[in-house]
Amino acid sequence: MAKEGQLAFLCLMFHFFMSHFANASKVPAIFILGDSTADVGTNSYLNRSHAKANFPYHGIDFPGHRATGRFSNGFNSADYLAMLMGARRSPSSYLFLQTLGSHRRADVLRRGANFASAGSGILDSTGSTLGVLPLYKQILQLVEVYGDLEARLGRHTTKTLLGKSLFFITTGSNDIFGYFATNTTVSVDEYIDTLIDSYDTYIRSLYGIGARKFGIISVPPVGCCPSQRIISPTGDCFEPANQMAQLFHSKLVKLLCKLSSQLQDLRYSLGNAYEMTMNVINHPNLYGFTNVNTACCGKGKLNAEQSCNVTSNLCPDRTKYLFWDLFHPTQAAANLAAITLYSGPAEYVTPINFKQLQNIK
Ligand SMILES: *[C@@H]1O[C@H](CO)[C@@H](O)[C@H](O)[C@H]1NC(C)=O
Ligand SMILES: *[C@@H]1O[C@H](CO)[C@@H](O)[C@H](O)[C@H]1NC(C)=O
Ligand SMILES: *[C@@H]1O[C@H](CO)[C@@H](O)[C@H](O)[C@H]1NC(C)=O
Repeated sequence: MAKEGQLAFLCLMFHFFMSHFANASKVPAIFILGDSTADVGTNSYLNRSHAKANFPYHGIDFPGHRATGRFSNGFNSADYLAMLMGARRSPSSYLFLQTLGSHRRADVLRRGANFASAGSGILDSTGSTLGVLPLYKQILQLVEVYGDLEARLGRHTTKTLLGKSLFFITTGSNDIFGYFATNTTVSVDEYIDTLIDSYDTYIRSLYGIGARKFGIISVPPVGCCPSQRIISPTGDCFEPANQMAQLFHSKLVKLLCKLSSQLQDLRYSLGNAYEMTMNVINHPNLYGFTNVNTACCGKGKLNAEQSCNVTSNLCPDRTKYLFWDLFHPTQAAANLAAITLYSGPAEYVTPINFKQLQNIK
């Protein structure tokens, strides 16, 4: 334990000095991997997928009131983060980019792509019945992108481009839901270790194709989603899932510290989605929210007995709700999360925030 403490301290100091001496810059590209909190339309292109959001009321507050496949009334946190880093919104879904001609696609790919698939997780089994893309398939697609870029720009330029780019990953929540959906005899601790071992492998493969800057978000208090609160007669959070989320975060802290000590030039920011979200749930009025337990769009108890579609009830003021539907944040909440990741304090994002990560040369 003492040794791990020392290691964590060294990681913190190292990152502090690195960020202190860096000048402001802009990442050339953003690559996004993960689940529904970052999906900008991937699942709309998956014929077998049962986890889609390409119909109203999704997108009711998006420019043009379009349902784009985002599980939100408007933008999601991948969009807001990309905006803070100087882009117009999240890069497009890779599956959308594949519908473009090869010249146009290669041009667009230089600025990044979004591979996130709603319902997916770290484990291949997570979301498999939903027909979604698990993290390893998303990484295979990213390897295809590497091949495309290399063919066009050459190896050296591609490595330099990827080394300066941000790799944003938000995953793990669906794996935790998956733990409770199956009658697994695996202990919580072993299960989280399995997730962390896979994450370890995946981060190393991304590093292998040239990724150096990782922006990673851990799991929010998933037990406080409206979908989980309705399990309790009193509408309380489902604590076993929240405890898993916290354990996942603490093991992720150690994993990333270890990786940055083993892999030269690997830099990262880890967003503590658990603390960020709990803070909003405990102090909603500080952030302009009046409702943090009910879905804005849905039906039944806490509006969480049905997913959101055009037959749902809609809340009166979408800017005042933490949850858009039974699982996902509103765009107001996603914006707050992105601002916290980008420029927030060490309480929520360590060892450096995304802005400092962006500015490292
Ligand atoms: C999905 O369906 C469309 C239209 O039926 C078809 O053109 C496309 O090839 C299918 N995609 C996959 C990945 O199966
Ligand atoms: C889990 O176990 C319970 C009781 O043994 C059983 O009724 C249920 O069908 C099982 N669920 C799954 C998903 O295997
Ligand atoms: C809306 O969702 C409900 C519950 O999932 C479903 O029963 C209904 O058919 C859906 N309606 C439309 C128009 O998609």
